[in-house]
Amino acid sequence: MKSLNGSARALVDTTAGEISREIYVNDDIYREEQERLFARAWLFVGHESQVPNAGDFLVSRMGEESVILTRDRAGKVHVFLNSCRHRGMKVCRYDDGNTKSFVCPYHAWSYDLDGRLIGVQDFENSYRPPFDRTDWGLVEVAQLAIFRGTIWATWDKDAPSFDDYLGEARFALDLGLRPWDGGDGETEVLGSIQKWIVPCNWKLIAENFAGDALHVVSHRSVDMVGIGPTQGPGRRDDYGRPHLAAYPGGHGVNYGITPPVKERSNYTASPVTAAYFQRCWEKRLARLGDKAGIVPLIGTIFPNTSFHLQQPRTILVSHPRGACETEMWRIYLVDKEAPEEAKRFLRLYYIRYSGPAGMTEQDDMENWSYATSASRGRIARRYPYNYKSGLGTEAGRDPVIPGFATPRNTSEQNPRILYKRWAEYMDAEDWSAL
Ligand code: FES
Ligand SMILES: [Fe+2]
Repeated sequence: MKSLNGSARALVDTTAGEISREIYVNDDIYREEQERLFARAWLFVGHESQVPNAGDFLVSRMGEESVILTRDRAGKVHVFLNSCRHRGMKVCRYDDGNTKSFVCPYHAWSYDLDGRLIGVQDFENSYRPPFDRTDWGLVEVAQLAIFRGTIWATWDKDAPSFDDYLGEARFALDLGLRPWDGGDGETEVLGSIQKWIVPCNWKLIAENFAGDALHVVSHRSVDMVGIGPTQGPGRRDDYGRPHLAAYPGGHGVNYGITPPVKERSNYTASPVTAAYFQRCWEKRLARLGDKAGIVPLIGTIFPNTSFHLQQPRTILVSHPRGACETEMWRIYLVDKEAPEEAKRFLRLYYIRYSGPAGMTEQDDMENWSYATSASRGRIARRYPYNYKSGLGTEAGRDPVIPGFATPRNTSEQNPRILYKRWAEYMDAEDWSAL
């Protein structure tokens, strides 16, 4: 297979619930994704708490591109392509830090925090008009949005606003990114980003988070060991009744709904954390009423930003590195106001659960990487994957939670909608066709 040539829909039959293995292992399709998907969609770049002060920077990624997230002297957040306009050198080779300007290590072109080219070696003697330094600043993203502390960007000036891109999935992010008391306070990133590489296609991760309740069986051993915040077995707190919802933009969320009762603390392994969450819960009940018990537990904002927004509370970006290789970046979020002891406790709990050494994450990584190696062969590729669970059982809409709901938590509705959107991107020439 050379190129899709407008035929992605033929590989992704979401009506029958069958998807060709090619889209997970084929290098040509992977290359086309970089152009048609990652160069167009809104992508997660970082969190405001990672660049609180002027001159703070963080090197992040958008698809395969390295980008610099920084805050200029006026406090404005920017996202630049991390590639020098002179001869392409990676301008910033550090993970994060604070600087007055970005000086390219190769021939020392220097850029201000707002991306302007301010220094060119031997400028007065060697460069003549019409060379104009103002034309050679760092390449900046076409659009940037900040949503409850999270920073998103797109390279496509014709992309819709971030709000329109989210559509009704905004409900999930808006609820999930608030502090646990349901107010307008801040959350912050705990420690640094955890980064590791998994030999699988990024879409296996995106669909898993978008709504794959069937795979919970693979975490049986973790449930038995008990890595959770409660004394005894279990790996998380009580999330109540699950509710799957999918969105036409390709986003999928698995909500947990608990009744808005007065007592709600499962953090018996840490009394300080338990008391903090109980205080938060009372405020949350007062603020959000019946909606207090709705939490976006797990989800994916299309294409590759996944999250757990109850506990553990993390954002996971699956950065593509090749058809069969993904670089996973995880951050852990915590309420800024939480007591230090609760932050310490949560950090350890989150790491036990998620991240490269996290026990739940290891189950998932094993599944994704073996599924990939067992799907690469010429024979294996002839047989599509099966996404038929819940076909024909879509329920329509819930009165409170927006999105297409399904009565069966084991439905593969959310992955089906994610792949439908994927095929639309791959076949569309530009945003007007999307
Ligand atoms: S590549 Fe950056 S100054 Fe030459
Ligand atoms: Fe999992």
